[in-house]
Amino acid sequence: MIRVRRLSHSFGADPVLKDVSFSLEKGDFVFLAGPSGAGKTTLLRILYAALPLQTGEAAVAGINLGRLPASRVPLLRRQVGVVFQDFKILPRRSVEQNIALPLEIRGLAPRHIERRVMAVTRALGLQDRIRLKCGELSGGEQQRVAIARAFVVNPKVLLADEPTGNLDPELAYRLMELFKQFQAYGATVLFATHSEDLMRRHPGAYTMRLEKGRITAADWPGAGVFIDGAGRTVHSRQRQ
Ligand SMILES: Nc1ncnc2c1ncn2[C@@H]1O[C@H](COP(=O)(O)OP(=O)(O)O)[C@@H](O)[C@H]1O
Ligand SMILES: [Mg+2]
Repeated sequence: MIRVRRLSHSFGADPVLKDVSFSLEKGDFVFLAGPSGAGKTTLLRILYAALPLQTGEAAVAGINLGRLPASRVPLLRRQVGVVFQDFKILPRRSVEQNIALPLEIRGLAPRHIERRVMAVTRALGLQDRIRLKCGELSGGEQQRVAIARAFVVNPKVLLADEPTGNLDPELAYRLMELFKQFQAYGATVLFATHSEDLMRRHPGAYTMRLEKGRITAADWPGAGVFIDGAGRTVHSRQRQ
């Protein structure tokens, strides 16, 4: 569902991702761990085609990101849900309008939109809030709206960039349960966080650690590149 091979990325002369390889199948859940500045957000942005693929290969939901024409980007985004740390919701619009937006962009019939929005708001415990403007909600509720908006399109792949970073631990754990549920529906989840505590809440997930743009540890056979004890780059078996 996500395949990355020997991906490198630089901003100007600064290398930010170095020789990153991994592959994830349907229903896999991976924590992307690593300190601030490690390259987590950059990797997610490349997978979402918010940044071009510079070096190496990558495919998401069967769509090759190499030389992806702008006209194919909407096709990719239809398969991929994204949750950012800073929500990116529209404060003057209601909860319902915010969640319906991706479906409206896709041109779904109002009847379908209403049904999907109702199902997702119920799943996220937002049904009492749907008429409120998002700007009137608490931070935790706003984050739930952002997650609902990613879930509502039923994406095959969910990319989450420290989505619980600004939340208190109790709320973060509850949101973690929602992501697990999403995985149980068959989605592939790549979840960036530097909270060890949160990672312990999902012991069945894989973990991949990025440091200074390199994968320094990963705990499943589909993950590719490691630096071994002697500082050498080691390519592990790639899943076919
Ligand atoms: N648009 C950009 N232009 C230049 N440098 C950037 C840009 N985005 C990120 N960087 C740099 O790339 C490195 C990795 O950043 P980032 O991917 O945001 O890491 P993380 O999400 O792990 O904190 C950092 O040194 C950051 O300053
Ligand atoms: Mg980041």
